[in-house]
Amino acid sequence: MNTRRIALIPAAGIGSRFGSELPKQYVQIGEKTVLQHTLDVFAANERIDHIAVVISPDDSYFDVLINLPHNGSVHRVGGSSRAQSVFNGVNELVDLGIATLSDSILVHDAARCCLPQTALNRLLDHTEHNYNGGILALPVADTLKQQNAHQHIARTVSRVGMWQAQTPQLFQAALLQRALANVNLNHITDEASAVEQLGISPMLVEGDSRNIKLTRADDAALVAFLLTQM
Ligand code: CTP
Ligand code: MG
Repeated sequence: MNTRRIALIPAAGIGSRFGSELPKQYVQIGEKTVLQHTLDVFAANERIDHIAVVISPDDSYFDVLINLPHNGSVHRVGGSSRAQSVFNGVNELVDLGIATLSDSILVHDAARCCLPQTALNRLLDHTEHNYNGGILALPVADTLKQQNAHQHIARTVSRVGMWQAQTPQLFQAALLQRALANVNLNHITDEASAVEQLGISPMLVEGDSRNIKLTRADDAALVAFLLTQM
């Protein structure tokens, strides 16, 4: 069976920590908006068959600010949490016949606009024959501290074997739907954690330190620099 690779980009957040007037995905950094940079990373990769963006039902910026790639679609089904937006998105893709249940879905934060092609290709290479799916992640570099109730150090946690999760996170559509249907969508912060709750262990694929998530206003200068290096 001919399975396709579909990028699913949740872009329905309000960016409360970033604190700009526009939601952060619509802020311009360098030549383009954050979301446009993200879409263009996937549009430039020939191994990606389709790019689906999930936006809020009352979004008034997308149509004005974004050039949808020729192989893209937009879905106004954003929900109250990131996971809800992803669940609504994958369900709509399947309902509309844009994705089949055996297609691979790559969920990627709109706010991670500096994803290098090398890291994206690494994820595609490593997950090709893996039914558990996989995610980009980086081994933790810093020493980890557990706090006590007074925000003093209670203990040092070993960083051996600890990874920081990034996106994309790749799963077959059927597995992603099954996993997200099974969890509280307000409590999970990535797709892999929902899949883990089914007793399945997705693969950890080495990510990239440039693949940061634009979160706070201070991140903008670094993102601007990274975009000039791509
Ligand atoms: N997202 C979404 N639907 C939501 C919340 C978030 O599609 N209800 C998207 C965001 O647009 C972003 C990605 O999920 O691309 C990662 O979320 P995050 O960085 O937390 O963005 P926001 O939720 O917008 O920011 P904040 O948490 O600071 O409000
Ligand atoms: Mg958020």
